[in-house]
Amino acid sequence: MEKQALLYEGKAKRVYETNDEKIVWIEYKDEATAFNGEKKTTIAGKGKLNNEISALLFEKLREKGIESHFVKKLSETEQLVKNVQIIPLEVVVRNIAAGSLAKRLGMEEGEVLPETIVEFYYKNDDLGDPLLTRDHIRILGLVEETELALLREKGLAVNDVLVPYFKNLNIDLVDFKLEFGIGADGEVMLADEISPDTCRLWDAETGEKLDKDVFRRDLGSLTETYSKLLERLTVAP
Ligand code: C5P
Repeated sequence: MEKQALLYEGKAKRVYETNDEKIVWIEYKDEATAFNGEKKTTIAGKGKLNNEISALLFEKLREKGIESHFVKKLSETEQLVKNVQIIPLEVVVRNIAAGSLAKRLGMEEGEVLPETIVEFYYKNDDLGDPLLTRDHIRILGLVEETELALLREKGLAVNDVLVPYFKNLNIDLVDFKLEFGIGADGEVMLADEISPDTCRLWDAETGEKLDKDVFRRDLGSLTETYSKLLERLTVAP
């Protein structure tokens, strides 16, 4: 497989074409951003950690029958993935109140939700990724109602695999964000990344944060935190 022209550069990754039109080459960057890019810095080693963690989680999901765009890890910072057209929706799944949900609904961070909830946000930097209702999604023409139901189901299916997986490592999966893409044959597929950049993960005993909130809230070293998480994931059975 040959790495060819740069197709797209996002906040955390670069996407290159390859000699196979169905496959793209992803490079995880060392950039850390928060609050829609307002807070931004370079953290050496971050790309490598997220590449490894994301590859590991996509592999775990595949083992449990959930396919994604992930093809294979190529190097410390690179992976091959299927070429998909990203749906401009962020699918957020929440088990425990935190972040914007706690703020919006006036809930205490850490309150266990009576049921897992799924939210949709518009992936649009200019608008600051607003929360969307079903009606908003319909009038924007982002996806059909049946596809929306499918995204919700897929989000919950990922949650059903990841909650017990992390629980076994004594980690609570508080919430996470997923993105989906449309593949060459029109199939809807899990895409982007699943990493401590896109999940909230708390140590089940101490409540220690093992995710990007460490960077967002200046709670300590991001690379130390992500390395500690990776270590726990790699000793997993
Ligand atoms: O900020 P908020 O509480 O809405 O975030 C919910 C979850 O989605 C968190 O795990 C956060 O890391 C993730 N997220 C993300 N990218 C965004 C917004 C949220 O990965 N643009």
